[in-house]
Amino acid sequence: MTDVTLLAVENLRAGYGETEVLRGIDLAVKAGEIVTVLGSNGVGKSTLNRTISGIVRAQGGSIRFAGEAIEHEKPPAIVARGLIHVPEGRRIFPNLSVRENLDLGSYARAKPRRAQNRERVFGIFPRLRERAGQYAGTLSGGEQQMLAIGRGLMAEPKLLILDEPSLGLSPLLVEELFTLIKRIHDDGVAILLVEQNVVQSLEVADRAFILAEGQFAMSGTAAEIGADPELKRTYLGL
Ligand SMILES: Nc1ncnc2c1ncn2[C@@H]1O[C@H](COP(=O)(O)OP(=O)(O)O)[C@@H](O)[C@H]1O
Ligand SMILES: [Mg+2]
Repeated sequence: MTDVTLLAVENLRAGYGETEVLRGIDLAVKAGEIVTVLGSNGVGKSTLNRTISGIVRAQGGSIRFAGEAIEHEKPPAIVARGLIHVPEGRRIFPNLSVRENLDLGSYARAKPRRAQNRERVFGIFPRLRERAGQYAGTLSGGEQQMLAIGRGLMAEPKLLILDEPSLGLSPLLVEELFTLIKRIHDDGVAILLVEQNVVQSLEVADRAFILAEGQFAMSGTAAEIGADPELKRTYLGL
């Protein structure tokens, strides 16, 4: 980890129409960090991801990435900067092959290195190599999640935002997924991991934020947050 701040979110406000979902969010991710944002269903985790990546417009506050203001930029410009968001629910294209899905990940960034990045993704996810020619729609849920993450890696992310990657996976696959997330991080990618899977997310993360009612109710090192029994009961419904 270094002290270079990659993502700096200050007093961020966003929502849908009259409904304000995020009411003043402050968040930073440094180069080389894994930061996790935890919170129950419906608290605004995906809205935060969508706002950072330009899909939902910020209504107040600022978002800086690698020192530049991005809160008024459109999603393709943000992708081009190396801020890659793997959305909730694995939006893969079922009628395209695994390889074609991967190649779409390098549409806006790193296109000249497509072949070598595909090899790198196959190195991390060997099952994608085995199934490279298969329709993505024929993959299992876990394989589709790996494909969605692999597609994100094709763009050579500086920061990878993962929105509930473990959702709907079996315990064994969740275990495998978190191991792979660590591996991607070890390759030098900073990760913003948004999850409801508290225990495993705190195991891999450096720092953690608990989202509740549009604001962070708690933040600290993952170890501090994990050791706080009150937290899980009060904010995570565990
Ligand atoms: N496209 C949308 N239009 C209107 N309201 C939305 C939309 N997406 C999410 N919401 C609402 O915003 C709140 C936060 O949703 P979301 O960010 O998806 O939460 P989480 O990801 O933590 O489950 C919820 O009350 C949800 O109903
Ligand atoms: Mg969500």
